[in-house]
Parts: sequence; C-alpha cells; structure tokens
Amino acid sequence: MQKLVFATNNPNKIREIKKMLGDSYDFLSLEAIDCHEDIPETRPTIEGNALQKAEYVKEHYGWDCFGEDTGLEIEALGGAPGVYTARYAGEAKDPEANMAKVLKELEGETNRRAQFKTVIALIINGQTKCFTGIIKGEIAEDYKRGDYGFGYDPIFIPDGYETSFAQMPPEEKHALSHRGQATRQLQAFLEAQNKTRVS
Ligand code: IMP
Repeated sequence: MQKLVFATNNPNKIREIKKMLGDSYDFLSLEAIDCHEDIPETRPTIEGNALQKAEYVKEHYGWDCFGEDTGLEIEALGGAPGVYTARYAGEAKDPEANMAKVLKELEGETNRRAQFKTVIALIINGQTKCFTGIIKGEIAEDYKRGDYGFGYDPIFIPDGYETSFAQMPPEEKHALSHRGQATRQLQAFLEAQNKTRVS
C-alpha cells in the first residue's frame, strides 16, 4: 500500500478525512514522520496555503503528501475571514473567540451569506494536483450547538438545511461539506492512479 503523508497537525481534519477515505490508504501524520514544527501558511489564497503545506513536507522530508487548507468566506465581510479563518480573533486560534467575533461583526446584518472552501493539494509521483470543495450557506443569528463537528460548525447552516454542521452526524456533514467534496475528488484521483499502476 502506498504511503502518503497528510500535512496537518489538526486532529479534527485527520479524523474527518480518515473516516471518509477508510482504510484503503496508508496515511501518515506529521508526527509519524517526525515533523513537529508549525508548517508555514503565509500565502494570500487558500489554494496557495494548501500547496505551501504540501511543498514544505515534500521539500524537507521527501514524502509524497497532501496539504489541506480551509477558509470561511462571508459575503457581508468582503470574503473575510478567508485565509485568516483559523486566527480571526488572534494567534490563539480559539474557535469560540473566532465565532464570537463573526457573530459580533454580523450583528444587525441581514446578508448572512457565506461559504466554506477547502483546497487539497496533492504531490504524488512528481506531479501536483489541487482539488477544491465549496459549500454555500448562511451564518446563524446565534449559536446552533450540537454534538458534532469543530471550528465554526455551530454557526454555519448549509443551504437547504435548518440545522448547523455541529448538529449533523459526521456522515451527513461529509456528504455535503467542502472537505467531503474535495476528499472525494482526491479519492477518485488516487484510485485512478492505483488502477494505472496495477494494469
Ligand atoms: P486551517 O485550514 O487549518 O488554516 O483552518 C482554518 C480554520 O477553519 C480553523 O479555524 C478551523 O477550525 C476552521 N475549519 C476548518 N474546517 C472546518 C469545518 O469543517 N467546519 C468548521 N470550521 C472549520
């Protein structure tokens, strides 16, 4: 089985992607390759940051790998927080503080349109590919907390639903979500590669 590094230290992302891809791939965490530093995320776009993470691991550790970057883009805030999604309320990357800041900035705002965007950048066998997933929806007027999810999930309601991502079991979120869409593209690409290698 081909080994592939997932260039993230975020246990929530690892949990979600592993659940979606199952055991058909041997994914290594950064810890497993002895990478303990914070990988830089300094590019001005979500795609650029996903690529930066994958390129860093390839360059410094030599592994084929994929990086993932996600941003929340809110229409009434001109696309913010965007590439600053993780540290919107400060370097502590505190999800509660981030959500509180969004709700405060949208106080009295009737346009609550927003989207999550995920880019997965894959470096494999000398080639680089990007896969993008977008889910559109609205920012809730107040927290809609549930038993699931992470990050901004308690304030994001996908189009066609009245519940937030935090109120949806993982399978339901993954069927719609930004990360689910990008992961299915990654999976299809890896499966096609495996078929070509075997035949
Ligand atoms: P990064 O991609 O690791 O830079 O994280 C971006 C930010 O988006 C972090 O604050 C995450 O908590 C948040 N985030 C990423 N994916 C999701 C998601 O699926 N739901 C809610 N928040 C998310």
